[in-house]
Amino acid sequence: MQLPDENIEYQYSRLVAPPAESWTPLAELQAKHLLADDRVDQIKAKLNTVRGQVAAERELQNPPPRLQPLQAGFIDLPQKTLDNFRRKGDASELGRTLRLAQRLKENTDRVVVLGIGGSYLGAKALFDALCHAFHNELPAKMRMGKPRVYFEGNNLDNDALAELLEMLENACVDPDLPEERWGAIVISKSGGTLETAAAYRAVRAEMTKFYGPKSDWLKKLLVPVTGPKGKLRDLAKAEGIADDDVLTIPDEVGGRYSVFTPVGLLPAAVMGLDVRALLLGAAAMTKRFLEEPFDRNPVLQFAAVNHLMTEELGKTTRVMAVWSKKLESVGFWYDQLLSESLGKNNRGATPVTSVYTRDLHSRGQQHQEGTRDKVINNLIVRQQKHPPIVLGMADRNEDDLNQFSRKSLPDILDAAFRGTNQAYADAARPTADLVLPGINEHVIGQLMQMLMIATVMEGRLMGINPYGQPGVEAYKKNMMALLKASPNLPKGEVADQLKGK
Ligand code: PA5
Repeated sequence: MQLPDENIEYQYSRLVAPPAESWTPLAELQAKHLLADDRVDQIKAKLNTVRGQVAAERELQNPPPRLQPLQAGFIDLPQKTLDNFRRKGDASELGRTLRLAQRLKENTDRVVVLGIGGSYLGAKALFDALCHAFHNELPAKMRMGKPRVYFEGNNLDNDALAELLEMLENACVDPDLPEERWGAIVISKSGGTLETAAAYRAVRAEMTKFYGPKSDWLKKLLVPVTGPKGKLRDLAKAEGIADDDVLTIPDEVGGRYSVFTPVGLLPAAVMGLDVRALLLGAAAMTKRFLEEPFDRNPVLQFAAVNHLMTEELGKTTRVMAVWSKKLESVGFWYDQLLSESLGKNNRGATPVTSVYTRDLHSRGQQHQEGTRDKVINNLIVRQQKHPPIVLGMADRNEDDLNQFSRKSLPDILDAAFRGTNQAYADAARPTADLVLPGINEHVIGQLMQMLMIATVMEGRLMGINPYGQPGVEAYKKNMMALLKASPNLPKGEVADQLKGK
C-alpha cells in the first residue's frame, strides 16, 4: 500500500520561556507559567530510562505486584495484527473482523453499536473524524454500501434508547428488504457492564420482534466483541451465535487502549474505513516511539512537556483545543484515556476538550483570563479534504465582507488560530501544537497510538499505574447493591415503598 509521507508532529516551543533580557511584567509571568529553557533538556535522560522500562514491560510474562495490572499489549498490537493478517489471512483476528464487517455491510442498512467507555469512545472518534459529517443522512447511493451507524449502550437514558428503537420500528418494517434490515455490534470486554448489557437486552428483543424468534438473522447480524471469558461470551453461545462469529479483545489490552482491537476495528470496517491504514499509522507511531531520538519523537515530547506542565507548573487542567469539529470525539476519547489512566492517588490532570473556534465564544474568556491552571494543546489540521470555500464578492455588502472576498474559510481559520495563540502568548498562557497533515486513517492511527503511549509514559514518570481504573468500581458497586436491595416493582410502587406507604 502506498502511503503519503504524513508524519504528525508536536511543536511545543511556545511552552518554553524565551530568554528575558530585562525585567518586564510579561517576562515575570513567563518565568512563572512557562518551562525554563533547560528544563526539557534536563528530563531527557529520565525519559530515555522510562522509555526503556515501558519497552521492557511489553515482554513481561509475570509482572511483579507493583506493576499490576499491566496491559501493555496495545503497544505492539497494530504491527502484530497486520503480520497475522498477512500470514493467516481470513483465519486471523483481522480477517474474521473484516469478514463479519462485510456480512453486516452486505445485509443491513443500519448497525447499532453498543458499548461504553473504552468499548465505545474509540469507535465514535473514528466515525466522527473519518466518515462524512452527515453519513447517516446520506442516500444509500452516496454511502456506497456502508450502513448507517448508531451508538447506544453508553448511558442509562431511557428516552434516548426508546427513541432509537422507535426509529428502527418505523424505518425498518420488512426484514426481507435488505434496505430495511438492521444489525448490532455489542462490545464489552468484561461482558458484565450494566449499561451495555441492559441496552443489549432491549436491542435483542427488538431484533427478535423484527426478524422473528427463529430467524437466522438473529445469529448472523448480531456480533459480540468481548474478552476471552465472561457473561457476554456465555450469552452469545446460549443464543446460538457461532464461536467464530464472536470477536475477542485480548486480555493484555485494557479497555481504553483497545481501539486497535475489534473494539474499534469492527465498527471502523463496517463504516467502510481503511483499517489497514489505521493499523499502519499506529504501528509507525510505535516504531517512532521505540527508535527515534527525542527531537523526532512526538510521544516523548508530548509526555515530557505535559508531565512537566502538570507536575511542576501546576497546570492541572489540560485543554485539547481541536481546530476541526470532526475531531471533537477524538478529544472525548482522550478525556477518558487521561482521566482513567492518571486520575489516581489524588493526582492527574483534568482533561477538557474544546472545539475552536466554537468554544472561543464560550470557554475562550476563561482560557484567556481565567484561572492559570491550564495548558492548551491545539490539535490542528494542515490540509483540508474539500476545496476551500471562498467568501466571494456579493452585491449587498452590508456585512462588509467584500474586503475579504478572496479569502477562504481555511484562511479565516488560520487567522483565528494565529490570533488566538498570539493573545495567549502575550499573556503567558501556555499553548503547544499537535499538527496533523490531514484527517485520514493513517494519520488518526498515528495520533491515537501516540496519545496512548504518551499516557503510559506519563504514568510511569509520575509513579502512577496507567492501567486499571479501580475508582470506577465504587459507583458500580453501589448501583448493584441498590438494585439488588430494591424489589422488582414498577417505578411508582418503588417510589411509594421508599416513602413508606
Ligand atoms: O478503560 C476501561 O477499561 C473502561 O473504560 C472500560 O472500557 C469500560 O468500563 C467498559 O468496560 P467493558 O468493555 O468491560 O464493558
